[in-house]
Amino acid sequence: MSMSNTWWRGAAIYQVYLRSFADGNGDGVGDLAGLRSRLPYLKDLGADAIWLNPWYPSPMADGGYDVADYRGIEPVFGTLAEAEKLIAEAHELDLKIIIDVVPNHSSTASAWFQEALADPAARDRFWFRDEPNDWQSIFGGPAWTQVPDGQWYLHLFAPEQPDFNWDNPEVHQEFEDVLRFWFDRGVDGVRVDSAALLYKSDTAWQDLDPVHDVYRHWRRVADSYDDRVLIGELWLPDQESLARYLRPDELHTAFNFDFLSCPWDPHELRRVIDLTLTTHATVGAPPTWVLSNHDVTRPVTRYGRADTGFAHGGALHGTPSDPELGYRRARAAALLAMALPGGLYVYQGEELGLPEVEDLPDELRQDPMYARSGGTNPGRDGCRVPLPWSGDEPPFGFGGPSPWLPQPENWRKLTAEAQLADLDSMLNLYRTGLRLRRSLLGDGTLHWLPSGDDRVLAFTRESGVTCVANLGPEPVPLPDGEVLLASGRLEDRLLPPDTTAWLRTT
Ligand code: GLC
Repeated sequence: MSMSNTWWRGAAIYQVYLRSFADGNGDGVGDLAGLRSRLPYLKDLGADAIWLNPWYPSPMADGGYDVADYRGIEPVFGTLAEAEKLIAEAHELDLKIIIDVVPNHSSTASAWFQEALADPAARDRFWFRDEPNDWQSIFGGPAWTQVPDGQWYLHLFAPEQPDFNWDNPEVHQEFEDVLRFWFDRGVDGVRVDSAALLYKSDTAWQDLDPVHDVYRHWRRVADSYDDRVLIGELWLPDQESLARYLRPDELHTAFNFDFLSCPWDPHELRRVIDLTLTTHATVGAPPTWVLSNHDVTRPVTRYGRADTGFAHGGALHGTPSDPELGYRRARAAALLAMALPGGLYVYQGEELGLPEVEDLPDELRQDPMYARSGGTNPGRDGCRVPLPWSGDEPPFGFGGPSPWLPQPENWRKLTAEAQLADLDSMLNLYRTGLRLRRSLLGDGTLHWLPSGDDRVLAFTRESGVTCVANLGPEPVPLPDGEVLLASGRLEDRLLPPDTTAWLRTT
Protein backbone atom coordinates (compact mmCIF):
# COMPACT_ATOMS: atom_id res chain seq x y z
CA MET A 1 0.00 0.00 0.00
CA SER A 2 1.48 3.34 -0.94
CA MET A 3 1.79 5.97 1.78
CA SER A 4 -0.29 8.47 -0.08
CA ASN A 5 -3.21 6.10 -0.33
CA THR A 6 -3.71 5.36 3.32
CA TRP A 7 -7.18 6.46 4.29
CA TRP A 8 -6.26 8.90 7.04
CA ARG A 9 -4.14 11.20 4.88
CA GLY A 10 -7.12 12.90 3.31
CA ALA A 11 -9.98 11.74 5.53
CA ALA A 12 -12.89 13.84 6.75
CA ILE A 13 -13.15 12.86 10.41
CA TYR A 14 -16.33 13.63 12.31
CA GLN A 15 -15.92 14.15 16.05
CA VAL A 16 -18.63 12.59 18.20
CA TYR A 17 -18.91 13.95 21.72
CA LEU A 18 -20.91 10.93 22.83
CA ARG A 19 -22.68 12.53 25.83
CA SER A 20 -24.24 15.09 23.53
CA PHE A 21 -24.67 13.30 20.22
CA ALA A 22 -27.86 11.19 20.52
CA ASP A 23 -29.52 9.51 23.46
CA GLY A 24 -30.76 6.00 22.70
CA ASN A 25 -32.20 5.04 26.10
CA GLY A 26 -33.88 8.27 27.14
CA ASP A 27 -31.81 9.07 30.24
CA GLY A 28 -30.76 12.47 28.90
CA VAL A 29 -27.18 11.43 28.10
CA GLY A 30 -25.99 10.48 24.63
CA ASP A 31 -24.84 6.88 24.24
CA LEU A 32 -23.69 4.13 21.89
CA ALA A 33 -27.27 3.14 21.05
CA GLY A 34 -27.94 6.73 19.94
CA LEU A 35 -24.79 6.84 17.86
CA ARG A 36 -25.50 3.49 16.24
CA SER A 37 -28.94 4.68 15.19
CA ARG A 38 -27.41 7.79 13.59
CA LEU A 39 -24.60 6.16 11.63
CA PRO A 40 -26.52 6.62 8.34
CA TYR A 41 -26.64 10.38 9.06
CA LEU A 42 -22.84 10.45 9.32
CA LYS A 43 -22.48 8.36 6.19
CA ASP A 44 -24.81 10.67 4.26
CA LEU A 45 -22.95 13.69 5.60
CA GLY A 46 -19.82 12.40 3.91
CA ALA A 47 -17.68 11.44 6.90
CA ASP A 48 -14.88 8.94 6.33
CA ALA A 49 -14.24 8.31 9.99
CA ILE A 50 -15.65 8.99 13.43
CA TRP A 51 -13.54 10.06 16.39
CA LEU A 52 -15.22 9.47 19.74
CA ASN A 53 -14.21 11.30 22.90
CA PRO A 54 -13.43 8.93 25.83
CA TRP A 55 -16.04 6.23 26.26
CA TYR A 56 -14.50 4.43 29.24
CA PRO A 57 -15.90 3.93 32.74
CA SER A 58 -15.43 7.30 34.40
CA PRO A 59 -16.76 9.35 37.31
CA MET A 60 -17.07 12.15 34.66
CA ALA A 61 -15.13 14.74 36.62
CA ASP A 62 -13.85 15.98 33.24
CA GLY A 63 -16.40 14.61 30.79
CA GLY A 64 -14.73 11.19 30.67
CA TYR A 65 -11.13 12.43 30.43
CA ASP A 66 -10.84 11.01 33.94
CA VAL A 67 -10.56 7.35 32.89
CA ALA A 68 -11.14 4.69 35.55
CA ASP A 69 -10.65 1.66 33.29
CA TYR A 70 -9.04 1.85 29.83
CA ARG A 71 -10.48 -1.51 28.75
CA GLY A 72 -14.16 -0.94 29.38
CA ILE A 73 -17.15 1.18 28.38
CA GLU A 74 -18.90 3.65 30.70
CA PRO A 75 -22.24 2.01 31.63
CA VAL A 76 -24.10 5.26 30.91
CA PHE A 77 -22.84 4.94 27.31
CA GLY A 78 -23.40 1.18 26.93
CA THR A 79 -21.36 -2.00 27.03
CA LEU A 80 -18.21 -3.38 25.46
CA ALA A 81 -20.40 -5.68 23.36
CA GLU A 82 -22.24 -2.61 22.02
CA ALA A 83 -18.96 -0.88 21.27
CA GLU A 84 -17.93 -3.92 19.24
CA LYS A 85 -21.24 -3.78 17.39
CA LEU A 86 -20.72 -0.11 16.68
CA ILE A 87 -17.29 -0.83 15.21
CA ALA A 88 -18.74 -3.58 13.02
CA GLU A 89 -21.71 -1.49 11.86
CA ALA A 90 -19.48 1.49 11.10
CA HIS A 91 -17.18 -0.74 9.05
CA GLU A 92 -20.19 -2.06 7.13
CA LEU A 93 -20.79 1.54 6.07
CA ASP A 94 -17.10 2.05 5.31
CA LEU A 95 -16.70 4.41 8.27
CA LYS A 96 -13.52 4.13 10.37
CA ILE A 97 -13.60 4.35 14.16
CA ILE A 98 -11.06 6.39 16.11
CA ILE A 99 -11.07 6.36 19.91
CA ASP A 100 -9.49 8.66 22.48
CA VAL A 101 -6.64 7.38 24.64
CA VAL A 102 -5.61 9.45 27.66
CA PRO A 103 -2.01 8.64 28.64
CA ASN A 104 -1.10 11.68 30.72
CA HIS A 105 -3.48 11.07 33.58
CA SER A 106 -5.97 8.64 35.00
CA SER A 107 -8.86 8.88 37.43
CA THR A 108 -8.70 8.81 41.21
CA ALA A 109 -11.26 6.00 40.81
CA SER A 110 -8.83 3.79 38.85
CA ALA A 111 -7.58 0.57 40.46
CA TRP A 112 -3.97 1.81 40.29
CA PHE A 113 -4.73 5.05 42.07
CA GLN A 114 -6.83 3.33 44.71
CA GLU A 115 -3.91 0.98 45.30
CA ALA A 116 -1.56 3.94 45.59
CA LEU A 117 -3.82 5.63 48.13
CA ALA A 118 -4.00 2.50 50.26
CA ASP A 119 -0.30 1.69 50.11
CA PRO A 120 2.47 4.33 49.99
CA ALA A 121 4.76 1.65 48.51
CA ALA A 122 2.48 1.50 45.41
CA ARG A 123 2.77 5.16 44.41
CA ASP A 124 5.45 5.07 41.75
CA ARG A 125 2.95 4.90 38.86
CA PHE A 126 1.88 8.45 39.76
CA TRP A 127 3.61 11.61 40.92
CA PHE A 128 3.62 11.56 44.69
CA ARG A 129 5.92 13.94 46.59
CA ASP A 130 6.38 15.04 50.16
CA GLU A 131 6.26 18.68 49.11
CA PRO A 132 4.37 20.23 46.18
CA ASN A 133 5.97 22.79 43.87
CA ASP A 134 4.25 25.95 42.67
CA TRP A 135 2.67 24.50 39.49
CA GLN A 136 -0.86 25.57 38.69
CA SER A 137 -3.41 23.23 37.15
CA ILE A 138 -4.44 23.92 33.54
CA PHE A 139 -8.02 24.11 34.86
CA GLY A 140 -7.03 26.66 37.53
CA GLY A 141 -5.91 26.26 41.15
CA PRO A 142 -2.89 24.34 42.41
CA ALA A 143 -1.69 21.28 40.46
CA TRP A 144 -1.14 19.28 43.68
CA THR A 145 -3.57 17.69 46.10
CA GLN A 146 -2.69 16.27 49.50
CA VAL A 147 -3.72 12.76 50.57
CA PRO A 148 -4.59 11.89 54.19
CA ASP A 149 -1.12 10.63 55.10
CA GLY A 150 0.43 13.96 54.10
CA GLN A 151 1.91 13.28 50.64
CA TRP A 152 0.85 15.27 47.57
CA TYR A 153 0.07 14.04 44.05
CA LEU A 154 0.36 15.95 40.81
CA HIS A 155 -2.61 16.61 38.52
CA LEU A 156 -2.09 18.98 35.62
CA PHE A 157 -5.87 19.02 35.20
CA ALA A 158 -8.58 18.38 37.85
CA PRO A 159 -7.71 16.77 41.24
CA GLU A 160 -9.71 13.73 40.04
CA GLN A 161 -7.13 13.28 37.23
CA PRO A 162 -3.81 12.15 38.78
CA ASP A 163 -0.86 12.31 36.36
CA PHE A 164 0.94 9.09 35.48
CA ASN A 165 4.68 8.75 36.07
CA TRP A 166 6.10 7.86 32.66
CA ASP A 167 9.49 7.06 34.20
CA ASN A 168 7.84 3.87 35.42
CA PRO A 169 8.08 1.03 32.84
CA GLU A 170 4.78 -0.44 34.01
CA VAL A 171 2.99 2.63 32.63
CA HIS A 172 4.57 2.04 29.21
CA GLN A 173 3.58 -1.60 29.30
CA GLU A 174 0.03 -0.75 30.30
CA PHE A 175 -0.58 1.66 27.45
CA GLU A 176 0.93 -0.51 24.76
CA ASP A 177 -1.36 -3.23 26.01
CA VAL A 178 -4.36 -0.88 25.94
CA LEU A 179 -3.56 0.04 22.33
CA ARG A 180 -3.50 -3.64 21.39
CA PHE A 181 -6.71 -4.25 23.29
CA TRP A 182 -8.59 -1.78 21.08
CA PHE A 183 -6.76 -2.47 17.82
CA ASP A 184 -7.63 -6.14 18.36
CA ARG A 185 -11.27 -5.05 18.51
CA GLY A 186 -11.05 -3.34 15.13
CA VAL A 187 -10.51 0.27 16.16
CA ASP A 188 -8.85 2.08 13.24
CA GLY A 189 -7.08 4.83 15.09
CA VAL A 190 -6.32 6.53 18.35
CA ARG A 191 -6.46 10.19 19.25
CA VAL A 192 -3.79 10.78 21.86
CA ASP A 193 -5.02 13.17 24.54
CA SER A 194 -2.63 15.84 25.87
CA ALA A 195 0.10 14.07 23.94
CA ALA A 196 2.98 16.44 24.76
CA LEU A 197 2.51 16.32 28.53
CA LEU A 198 3.54 12.80 29.62
CA TYR A 199 7.04 13.54 30.98
CA LYS A 200 7.84 16.09 33.66
CA SER A 201 11.09 17.41 35.04
CA ASP A 202 11.62 19.58 38.11
CA THR A 203 11.01 22.65 36.02
CA ALA A 204 8.95 21.63 32.97
CA TRP A 205 5.79 19.65 32.37
CA GLN A 206 5.56 19.40 28.62
CA ASP A 207 7.39 18.65 25.37
CA LEU A 208 10.30 16.85 27.07
CA ASP A 209 12.43 14.69 24.78
CA PRO A 210 11.65 11.21 26.16
CA VAL A 211 8.00 11.56 25.08
CA HIS A 212 9.10 10.96 21.49
CA ASP A 213 10.32 7.50 22.42
CA VAL A 214 6.88 6.66 23.76
CA TYR A 215 5.36 7.41 20.36
CA ARG A 216 8.08 5.49 18.55
CA HIS A 217 6.99 2.46 20.53
CA TRP A 218 3.31 3.16 19.91
CA ARG A 219 4.02 3.52 16.21
CA ARG A 220 5.53 0.05 16.19
CA VAL A 221 2.39 -1.28 17.86
CA ALA A 222 0.15 0.52 15.35
CA ASP A 223 2.27 -0.65 12.41
CA SER A 224 1.95 -4.24 13.52
CA TYR A 225 -1.73 -3.91 12.49
CA ASP A 226 -3.16 -2.99 9.11
CA ASP A 227 -3.38 0.77 8.41
CA ARG A 228 -4.07 2.18 11.90
CA VAL A 229 -3.52 5.84 12.73
CA LEU A 230 -2.16 7.72 15.75
CA ILE A 231 -3.34 11.33 16.02
CA GLY A 232 -1.79 13.76 18.47
CA GLU A 233 -3.58 16.39 20.50
CA LEU A 234 -0.65 18.76 20.83
CA TRP A 235 -1.05 22.37 21.87
CA LEU A 236 2.50 23.60 21.22
CA PRO A 237 3.94 27.07 20.74
CA ASP A 238 5.07 26.50 17.13
CA GLN A 239 4.69 24.20 14.13
CA GLU A 240 8.33 23.09 14.28
CA SER A 241 7.79 21.51 17.70
CA LEU A 242 4.59 19.94 16.39
CA ALA A 243 6.36 18.44 13.38
CA ARG A 244 8.85 16.68 15.64
CA TYR A 245 5.97 14.47 16.83
CA LEU A 246 5.11 13.66 13.21
CA ARG A 247 8.44 12.24 12.13
CA PRO A 248 7.93 9.06 10.11
CA ASP A 249 8.40 6.75 13.08
CA GLU A 250 6.17 8.67 15.53
CA LEU A 251 2.53 9.87 15.32
CA HIS A 252 0.85 9.90 11.90
CA THR A 253 -0.98 13.23 12.19
CA ALA A 254 -1.97 15.92 14.67
CA PHE A 255 -4.69 18.51 15.06
CA ASN A 256 -3.82 21.88 13.58
CA PHE A 257 -4.65 24.22 16.43
CA ASP A 258 -2.90 27.17 14.78
CA PHE A 259 -5.59 27.04 12.09
CA LEU A 260 -8.35 26.60 14.67
CA SER A 261 -7.12 29.61 16.67
CA CYS A 262 -6.42 31.80 13.65
CA PRO A 263 -8.47 35.00 13.34
CA TRP A 264 -10.62 35.54 10.25
CA ASP A 265 -7.89 37.55 8.62
CA PRO A 266 -6.52 36.86 5.13
CA HIS A 267 -2.86 37.53 6.00
CA GLU A 268 -2.92 35.47 9.17
CA LEU A 269 -4.74 32.61 7.46
CA ARG A 270 -2.37 32.58 4.54
CA ARG A 271 0.60 32.59 6.92
CA VAL A 272 -0.80 29.68 8.97
CA ILE A 273 -1.69 27.67 5.85
CA ASP A 274 1.77 28.15 4.33
CA LEU A 275 3.57 27.39 7.56
CA THR A 276 1.46 24.29 8.08
CA LEU A 277 2.17 23.00 4.57
CA THR A 278 5.91 23.58 4.70
CA THR A 279 6.50 22.18 8.19
CA HIS A 280 4.37 19.09 7.56
CA ALA A 281 6.16 18.50 4.25
CA THR A 282 9.52 18.31 6.06
CA VAL A 283 8.34 15.14 7.85
CA GLY A 284 6.01 13.80 5.14
CA ALA A 285 2.92 14.05 7.37
CA PRO A 286 -0.41 15.24 5.96
CA PRO A 287 -1.59 18.54 7.40
CA THR A 288 -4.99 18.70 9.07
CA TRP A 289 -7.59 21.45 9.21
CA VAL A 290 -9.70 21.97 12.31
CA LEU A 291 -12.25 24.71 12.98
CA SER A 292 -13.65 23.48 16.28
CA ASN A 293 -13.80 20.76 18.90
CA HIS A 294 -15.29 20.09 22.34
CA ASP A 295 -12.80 22.45 24.04
CA VAL A 296 -13.30 25.65 22.04
CA THR A 297 -15.86 28.31 21.11
CA ARG A 298 -18.23 27.40 18.28
CA PRO A 299 -17.08 29.07 15.00
CA VAL A 300 -20.42 30.78 14.31
CA THR A 301 -20.03 32.71 17.57
CA ARG A 302 -16.28 33.26 17.33
CA TYR A 303 -16.33 34.63 13.78
CA GLY A 304 -19.10 37.10 14.64
CA ARG A 305 -17.02 38.84 17.31
CA ALA A 306 -14.70 41.79 16.88
CA ASP A 307 -11.82 39.49 17.93
CA THR A 308 -12.22 36.42 15.72
CA GLY A 309 -9.30 34.39 17.10
CA PHE A 310 -9.74 31.68 19.69
CA ALA A 311 -8.24 32.24 23.12
CA HIS A 312 -8.13 29.72 25.95
CA GLY A 313 -9.47 30.70 29.31
CA GLY A 314 -12.84 32.00 28.16
CA ALA A 315 -11.50 35.53 27.81
CA LEU A 316 -13.90 36.38 24.99
CA HIS A 317 -16.93 34.66 26.48
CA GLY A 318 -20.02 36.82 26.21
CA THR A 319 -18.40 39.54 24.11
CA PRO A 320 -20.83 40.75 21.44
CA SER A 321 -21.17 38.53 18.39
CA ASP A 322 -23.04 39.36 15.21
CA PRO A 323 -24.85 36.09 14.43
CA GLU A 324 -25.38 36.78 10.76
CA LEU A 325 -21.75 37.75 10.16
CA GLY A 326 -20.50 34.81 12.21
CA TYR A 327 -22.71 32.40 10.26
CA ARG A 328 -21.56 33.74 6.89
CA ARG A 329 -17.90 33.52 7.86
CA ALA A 330 -18.32 30.04 9.36
CA ARG A 331 -19.71 28.89 6.00
CA ALA A 332 -16.83 30.49 4.15
CA ALA A 333 -14.31 29.01 6.58
CA ALA A 334 -15.83 25.55 6.16
CA LEU A 335 -15.36 25.58 2.38
CA LEU A 336 -11.85 26.98 2.79
CA ALA A 337 -10.90 24.22 5.25
CA MET A 338 -12.48 21.52 3.09
CA ALA A 339 -10.49 22.64 0.04
CA LEU A 340 -7.09 22.45 1.72
CA PRO A 341 -4.92 19.36 1.18
CA GLY A 342 -4.81 16.82 4.02
CA GLY A 343 -7.18 15.68 6.72
CA LEU A 344 -10.26 17.52 7.93
CA TYR A 345 -12.04 17.44 11.30
CA VAL A 346 -15.69 18.35 11.80
CA TYR A 347 -16.93 18.64 15.37
CA GLN A 348 -20.55 17.55 15.86
CA GLY A 349 -22.92 20.47 15.46
CA GLU A 350 -20.44 22.41 13.32
CA GLU A 351 -22.30 21.05 10.30
CA LEU A 352 -25.52 22.45 11.80
CA GLY A 353 -23.98 25.87 12.40
CA LEU A 354 -24.74 25.68 16.11
CA PRO A 355 -23.71 28.77 18.06
CA GLU A 356 -21.92 28.66 21.40
CA VAL A 357 -24.54 28.57 24.18
CA GLU A 358 -23.29 31.41 26.34
CA ASP A 359 -26.25 31.78 28.69
CA LEU A 360 -26.30 28.40 30.41
CA PRO A 361 -27.41 28.78 34.03
CA ASP A 362 -24.27 28.71 36.18
CA GLU A 363 -25.62 25.97 38.43
CA LEU A 364 -25.85 23.63 35.42
CA ARG A 365 -22.27 24.15 34.27
CA GLN A 366 -20.34 20.89 34.59
CA ASP A 367 -16.91 21.68 33.17
CA PRO A 368 -14.36 21.65 36.02
CA MET A 369 -12.81 24.76 34.47
CA TYR A 370 -15.78 26.75 35.69
CA ALA A 371 -15.55 25.80 39.36
CA ARG A 372 -11.75 25.72 39.48
CA SER A 373 -11.44 29.20 38.03
CA GLY A 374 -13.80 30.49 40.69
CA GLY A 375 -16.34 31.16 37.96
CA THR A 376 -14.11 33.54 35.99
CA ASN A 377 -13.82 31.00 33.15
CA PRO A 378 -17.25 29.76 32.03
CA GLY A 379 -15.65 26.57 30.74
CA ARG A 380 -16.54 24.48 27.73
CA ASP A 381 -20.13 23.43 28.33
CA GLY A 382 -21.39 25.98 25.80
CA CYS A 383 -20.02 23.95 22.88
CA ARG A 384 -21.18 20.64 24.36
CA VAL A 385 -24.95 21.17 24.37
CA PRO A 386 -26.86 18.11 23.08
CA LEU A 387 -27.56 18.16 19.34
CA PRO A 388 -30.95 19.18 17.96
CA TRP A 389 -32.16 16.44 15.61
CA SER A 390 -35.82 17.14 14.88
CA GLY A 391 -39.05 18.69 16.03
CA ASP A 392 -40.06 22.15 17.21
CA GLU A 393 -39.01 22.21 20.82
CA PRO A 394 -36.42 20.81 23.22
CA PRO A 395 -35.21 18.09 23.41
CA PHE A 396 -35.41 18.29 19.60
CA GLY A 397 -35.31 14.52 19.12
CA PHE A 398 -32.11 14.13 21.16
CA GLY A 399 -33.90 11.42 23.18
CA GLY A 400 -35.43 11.43 26.65
CA PRO A 401 -37.34 14.35 28.14
CA SER A 402 -34.40 16.33 29.56
CA PRO A 403 -30.90 16.39 28.08
CA TRP A 404 -28.01 16.75 30.55
CA LEU A 405 -27.53 20.33 29.39
CA PRO A 406 -30.55 22.34 28.26
CA GLN A 407 -30.88 23.26 24.58
CA PRO A 408 -31.91 26.79 23.62
CA GLU A 409 -35.62 27.04 22.76
CA ASN A 410 -34.78 28.75 19.49
CA TRP A 411 -32.85 25.85 17.93
CA ARG A 412 -35.92 24.81 15.93
CA LYS A 413 -34.45 25.99 12.62
CA LEU A 414 -31.11 24.37 13.43
CA THR A 415 -32.30 20.77 13.70
CA ALA A 416 -30.87 18.27 11.26
CA GLU A 417 -34.42 17.63 10.07
CA ALA A 418 -35.15 21.27 9.31
CA GLN A 419 -31.81 21.76 7.58
CA LEU A 420 -32.11 18.69 5.39
CA ALA A 421 -35.23 20.24 3.93
CA ASP A 422 -33.47 23.53 3.19
CA LEU A 423 -31.10 23.45 0.23
CA ASP A 424 -29.24 26.52 1.46
CA SER A 425 -28.68 25.24 4.98
CA MET A 426 -25.31 24.78 6.66
CA LEU A 427 -25.97 21.05 6.76
CA ASN A 428 -26.45 20.88 3.00
CA LEU A 429 -23.33 22.99 2.48
CA TYR A 430 -21.34 20.46 4.50
CA ARG A 431 -22.96 17.51 2.74
CA THR A 432 -22.25 18.86 -0.72
CA GLY A 433 -18.83 20.12 0.26
CA LEU A 434 -17.73 16.83 1.77
CA ARG A 435 -19.00 14.88 -1.24
CA LEU A 436 -17.16 17.10 -3.71
CA ARG A 437 -14.09 17.13 -1.50
CA ARG A 438 -13.93 13.37 -1.63
CA SER A 439 -14.17 13.09 -5.39
CA LEU A 440 -12.09 16.13 -6.29
CA LEU A 441 -9.71 17.05 -3.53
CA GLY A 442 -8.40 15.19 -0.48
CA ASP A 443 -4.69 14.69 0.09
CA GLY A 444 -2.10 16.48 -2.06
CA THR A 445 -0.75 19.96 -2.61
CA LEU A 446 -1.99 23.42 -3.52
CA HIS A 447 -0.80 26.26 -5.73
CA TRP A 448 -1.59 29.82 -4.77
CA LEU A 449 -3.00 31.91 -7.59
CA PRO A 450 -1.85 35.47 -8.03
CA SER A 451 -4.58 37.84 -7.06
CA GLY A 452 -4.80 41.60 -7.36
CA ASP A 453 -6.19 41.85 -3.85
CA ASP A 454 -4.28 40.37 -0.94
CA ARG A 455 -7.52 40.00 1.00
CA VAL A 456 -8.55 37.26 -1.42
CA LEU A 457 -7.17 33.76 -0.84
CA ALA A 458 -7.13 31.81 -4.10
CA PHE A 459 -5.50 28.49 -4.81
CA THR A 460 -5.78 25.55 -7.15
CA ARG A 461 -5.60 21.88 -6.27
CA GLU A 462 -4.07 19.29 -8.57
CA SER A 463 -7.59 17.98 -9.22
CA GLY A 464 -8.24 21.18 -11.18
CA VAL A 465 -10.48 22.70 -8.53
CA THR A 466 -9.88 26.30 -7.55
CA CYS A 467 -10.93 27.71 -4.19
CA VAL A 468 -11.42 31.45 -3.79
CA ALA A 469 -12.19 33.01 -0.40
CA ASN A 470 -12.95 36.72 -0.22
CA LEU A 471 -12.01 38.19 3.14
CA GLY A 472 -12.09 41.77 1.91
CA PRO A 473 -14.94 44.27 2.27
CA GLU A 474 -15.96 44.42 -1.44
CA PRO A 475 -17.27 41.83 -3.91
CA VAL A 476 -14.53 40.51 -6.22
CA PRO A 477 -14.80 38.95 -9.69
CA LEU A 478 -14.36 35.18 -9.85
CA PRO A 479 -11.84 33.59 -12.22
CA ASP A 480 -13.18 31.73 -15.27
CA GLY A 481 -14.57 28.28 -14.71
CA GLU A 482 -17.68 26.43 -13.68
CA VAL A 483 -18.81 27.26 -10.14
CA LEU A 484 -19.16 23.99 -8.22
CA LEU A 485 -20.21 25.32 -4.84
CA ALA A 486 -20.31 28.61 -2.97
CA SER A 487 -20.84 29.43 0.67
CA GLY A 488 -23.11 32.37 -0.20
CA ARG A 489 -25.14 33.73 -3.09
CA LEU A 490 -23.13 34.97 -6.07
CA GLU A 491 -24.23 37.85 -8.25
CA ASP A 492 -22.94 38.07 -11.81
CA ARG A 493 -19.82 36.06 -11.00
CA LEU A 494 -19.00 38.40 -8.16
CA LEU A 495 -17.88 36.80 -4.92
CA PRO A 496 -19.31 38.74 -1.97
CA PRO A 497 -17.30 39.52 1.20
CA ASP A 498 -16.82 36.66 3.66
CA THR A 499 -17.69 34.09 1.00
CA THR A 500 -15.82 31.13 -0.50
CA ALA A 501 -16.43 29.51 -3.88
CA TRP A 502 -15.08 26.41 -5.58
CA LEU A 503 -14.67 26.37 -9.35
CA ARG A 504 -13.53 23.85 -11.88
CA THR A 505 -10.84 25.71 -13.78
CA THR A 506 -9.20 22.99 -15.87
C1 GLC B 1 -7.69 17.47 26.29
C2 GLC B 1 -9.15 17.28 26.04
C3 GLC B 1 -9.91 18.06 27.07
C4 GLC B 1 -9.55 17.52 28.43
C5 GLC B 1 -8.05 17.56 28.66
C6 GLC B 1 -7.65 16.74 29.85
O1 GLC B 1 -7.29 18.77 26.11
O2 GLC B 1 -9.47 17.66 24.74
O3 GLC B 1 -11.29 17.99 26.87
O4 GLC B 1 -10.18 18.28 29.43
O5 GLC B 1 -7.34 17.02 27.57
O6 GLC B 1 -7.79 15.38 29.57
